[in-house]
This record gives sequence, C-alpha cells and structure tokens, in this order.
Amino acid sequence: MSTLTARAEEILTQAKQLDSYIVSNGLPPTSFDQDSLMNLPPEYEAVQSALIESTHTLKRLAQGTFGAMTEMLYCFTDLTTLRALYHYKIPQAVPLTGSITYDEIAQRISLPSTLVSRFLRHAMASQIFTESLPGHVTHTAISHTLSIDPEFFEAVGLLTDEFAPASNALIGAIDTYPDSREPTHTERMNRFGMGMRYFTRGEGWDLKHLRAGYDWDAIDSPGGVVVDVGGGQGAFSQFLAASTRHLRFIVQDSAAVANSGEAALPEDLKERIDFMPHDFFTEQPIKGADVYFMRWILHNWSNKYCLQILRNLVPALKKGSRVVLYEFLLPDKPVTKLRQKQGLNLDMVVLSCFNSSERTTMDWQRLFEEADIRFRFDNAITPQGSTMSIIQAIWL
Ligand SMILES: C[S@@+](CC[C@H](N)C(=O)[O-])C[C@H]1O[C@@H](n2cnc3c(N)ncnc32)[C@H](O)[C@@H]1O
Repeated sequence: MSTLTARAEEILTQAKQLDSYIVSNGLPPTSFDQDSLMNLPPEYEAVQSALIESTHTLKRLAQGTFGAMTEMLYCFTDLTTLRALYHYKIPQAVPLTGSITYDEIAQRISLPSTLVSRFLRHAMASQIFTESLPGHVTHTAISHTLSIDPEFFEAVGLLTDEFAPASNALIGAIDTYPDSREPTHTERMNRFGMGMRYFTRGEGWDLKHLRAGYDWDAIDSPGGVVVDVGGGQGAFSQFLAASTRHLRFIVQDSAAVANSGEAALPEDLKERIDFMPHDFFTEQPIKGADVYFMRWILHNWSNKYCLQILRNLVPALKKGSRVVLYEFLLPDKPVTKLRQKQGLNLDMVVLSCFNSSERTTMDWQRLFEEADIRFRFDNAITPQGSTMSIIQAIWL
C-alpha cells in the first residue's frame, strides 16, 4: 500500500527528470505562460505521462470522496466557458503580445463587458488567460495556442458545440429509443476534420505502429492486394505503399471522397493505388484480396450495422483472406489510470453521436463470430507505444 509520501516522492523523481531535460536543452522552466514540455522526445514523453498519472492519483487521494465528486460535477462549467471562448472567438480578440482591457475585448466581439469578464475570470481559474495588470488581459500558453493553432481551436469547438450537447441528449435519447441501434437516433455532428486532426496528433497515433504491428511483408509480393474499405483520402494506403514494393491498394469510399482522394494522390503512387466509389452496405466488388482493411469504420456503427458491413465482405473472401481493423480497444476490466480513460471517453462520444460503441477484444471476437462462423477471430494486439490496436480475423 503506497502512502501519500511515497507517491509524492515518485512525483519528485519524475519532475526532476523533466526539469533536467529542460535545463540541459536550454529551455525556460515550464510554466503556465511558457509550455516547455511541448514536443518532448518519446522517452521524456513517457516520463511526462508517468508524472501526469502520479499527480492525478495523488490529487484524487488528497481530494477524497467529496472533493473528487465535486470536481467532476462542476466540470460542466468549464465546458460552458470553453464554449463561450470558442463561440465568440475570444482568444483571437486578445493580442499575441501585450494586453487588452475587458471593455476593449467586449467591443471587439460585441458582447457586454460584464459577461466577457465573467467568462474570462472563470477561464483564468484554469490558467487560460491571465491579468498582467488589474483589468488587463494577456495570453497564457493555452490561450496563446488557441489563438494561433486552428486545429486546437476547432477541437474545442468539436467537443463543446457538438460532442457535449450530444452527450447531454443521450439519456433522453435512450429513454425515447431504449433499444435503438439506429445512428440517426442521436445528436449528429458535422465538424470533424480540423478537430479530429488535433486529437490524433502525437506519437501514439503514428501509422508506423500499424506498419510494425502487422506482417504486411508476408503479402508484399506481385499480386498482393489490400482493399481499404471506407478508406477516406487513402492516408493508410499511401503510408503503406511507401514502405512496400509490390502491394496494390484499392481505396473505397463515397464517390465524392474517392474522387477527391484520387485528385490529391501523388503521381508516384498512382501505379499502386486506385480509388473506387463503393458503399460498404452493398456487396464487396473486389474479390479475393489478401486483406480487407478498415480504420475507424466499425466504431462508428452499432453491431446491427457492423454485421451488415462484415457480411457484405463475405462473397468476396477467398480462403485465407484477412479482415484487419485498426480501432481503439477497450479494456476488459475496470481501469483507473487517466491514460486508460481515453478509450472510455471515446466510447461515450460514439454512443452519443453514432449510437455505436468502442469494443473490447471479446466484443470484436463475438462480432466476427456472429457475422459468419467461417470467420476465425485471430487476435487483437496493441503495438508498443500505440494508441490504436490491430484486430484480425481470417476467412476459413
Ligand atoms: C472516420 S472516417 C475513416 C477514414 C479512413 N478509414 C481513415 O482511417 O482515414 C470514415 C470514412 O467512412 C466513409 N464512409 C461512411 N459511410 C460509408 C459507406 N456507406 N460506404 C463507404 N464509405 C463510407 C466516410 O466517407 C469516411 O471517409
């Protein structure tokens, strides 16, 4: 049983490691004004994650029962303030250097000054903006980044304007449609692109994990074919084409997406990557490929629709064809680490927005078995350092 002191000592060790990295790289001490821990090399990113876990655990223990619950219950006020910052574009109304008064901000964004100061004072309690002099607002590291990084800014919009309201509507939707599997029985979202690019930044999302975690070389011979079902602009196929010699890729999506993907395809990949309009709710037209690959497809659909998508592959499969998925893998038991909560957060998001779910290894296995008994579920692995997992079934 670890004491508070033992945890605090763990934190001290981790903090010293990060401070020594900062000093030896000539960076300023990390602060709310200057985030010197951005863009750490992977080994220090691991120390940073460990420090976040330790401080989170120590904080929860120090808060105790009522403190922890009170913080969780009031988190909606943070969302309200963040929504106001996004909606009224307040970060962009503050100059990158120097300061601005509350009245001047109010004039710029056409909002009463009293409201501006209330939102900003609430944000300041979370180190978003500060006052350099009484009544003079300046940026902190977070607000500065919000004002200059459009993907980070849109991520705030995606969460506060779409995911959070959809989540608020969830219980009402369950009461109205208790056993629904229909994606339209949810609050839907439209704003994906920029926000999702922000959320998938960083080492854990890198496609190198998908390259290293699966034996693509085993099918990289003349005639080897990968069908990238719902492949969007073909990001995965382009990545894999660059590090294989013979594999051919067919990227399928709606006509509009497939056409734009084709138009943006680099010249040197045109020989090996084809785009093709195809609705995955109809029979798969490319027969006998080695791999039918899907990234971020099935987590958007409830089991009812996943079964249709998988069964539509069946007429195309040859003995030994593989269906390879790249998805989040939910833990199969309760978890308390902050890092592990990310998958559970996403599960709430897809439940609210698509009436679908993230899945455990057992859920994936059952899904394949229910789709067709001739699928043999092979495994679900999470490559070292990867946020996503590779899930594989083989056609017998
Ligand atoms: C979350 S994105 C994933 C894109 C791609 N797999 C990737 O990893 O970048 C889901 C994709 O599914 C496509 N999609 C949605 N419904 C589809 C359908 N019925 N048939 C084919 N593609 C579909 C969307 O256009 C979108 O490109």
